[in-house]
Amino acid sequence: MPIAGLNLVPFISVENMMDLVLETGIDAFLVELAQYIEEDFRRWEHFDKTPRVASHSAEGVIELMPTSDGRLYGFKYVNGHPKNTRSGRQTVTAFGVLADVETGYPLLLSEMTILTALRTAAMSAVAARYLAPKNARTMALIGTGAQSEFQARAFRALLGIESLRLFDVDEPAMRRCRSNLADLGLSITLCTSPEEAVEGVEIITTATADKQNATILTDNMIGAGVHINAVGGDCPGKTELHRDILLRSSIFVEYPPQTRVEGEIQQLDPDHPVVELWRVICGKEAGRDRSDQITLFDSVGFAVEDFSALRYVNEKLKGSRHYTALDLLADPDEPRDLYGMLLRRQAWLRQASLA
Ligand SMILES: NC(=O)c1ccc[n+]([C@@H]2O[C@H](COP(=O)([O-])OP(=O)(O)OC[C@H]3O[C@@H](n4cnc5c(N)ncnc54)[C@H](O)[C@@H]3O)[C@@H](O)[C@H]2O)c1
Repeated sequence: MPIAGLNLVPFISVENMMDLVLETGIDAFLVELAQYIEEDFRRWEHFDKTPRVASHSAEGVIELMPTSDGRLYGFKYVNGHPKNTRSGRQTVTAFGVLADVETGYPLLLSEMTILTALRTAAMSAVAARYLAPKNARTMALIGTGAQSEFQARAFRALLGIESLRLFDVDEPAMRRCRSNLADLGLSITLCTSPEEAVEGVEIITTATADKQNATILTDNMIGAGVHINAVGGDCPGKTELHRDILLRSSIFVEYPPQTRVEGEIQQLDPDHPVVELWRVICGKEAGRDRSDQITLFDSVGFAVEDFSALRYVNEKLKGSRHYTALDLLADPDEPRDLYGMLLRRQAWLRQASLA
């Protein structure tokens, strides 16, 4: 990275991130990011893994998501506050750091609100490539908030989805989603109920936000052979699917110790069988093996995916101008003279005030 001075750390603002994504192309960014995620899932066993550290309140959750592959370390700060949109705020915001394990020095500080939407969508599409019916072309998208267009684009770019059926309790949100996705050649139908949205589709994505055990999908709505990409149930007491659907599905998860607490499977016994997605990607376990099988990706979002996203962005920054250098790390001339640096600053300030 062309950055001088040990005090300086590349910082990717929201504006920088948008420019980086647009310069790459949204579809190309999703496809490349999916490759990084898949690469890291293939070396799953190399990662330090821990369920994210969550601080819950009545209105939402604030989480820290760390992981390391021994060479790089990454963490993300992320919140989830479903009521935030009423006060003009995002439900989910995030930022994160990638660091060099050898020195402990940060390599990158980045906005991750946009990056999280992209990585969640890329992750969903990676899972669907292993789990959805072959040549699926139709998807229902229930919950058309901030994540929705990213999901739609990832499924179009990575799976070839051609037809979308949208439902949201908020009609303007649905119309906005359709308008944002215009010009992509997708056939888009606005529906008046979740039942209507799932009619005849091969994939169902749920990305609603509500801090409760909601029932967005009931058992009678799920036909044989469907793949469910359940994104919105990602906290204790915050789920989207009726328990009966889970009992009929083959369930695939990111990291069981986290998903059993946060995912749809919090509704099941703690020993209910689930398959870790990395094992499917590595060919150690089957994904979809019957055309009438109901597959469920119980997505909650795991630290390795954010690590992959930061690792990808770090590579993309090489030769790029889409960052600013942030004076983040103290860098005294003599490393142990930290206090002396403070004194020199004090002397400089005094002199400046006299001048
Ligand atoms: N699994 C992951 O990795 C991951 C990553 C990011 C976000 N999420 C979760 O995805 C969900 C969506 O996030 P977002 O940023 O798009 O939120 P958002 O608040 O922007 O949008 C949520 C949408 O859901 C709609 N909705 C709420 N209840 C509904 C219902 N019963 N039926 C239909 N629509 C309903 C709302 O009207 C809104 O348009 C959140 O719950 C968030 O926590 C998960």
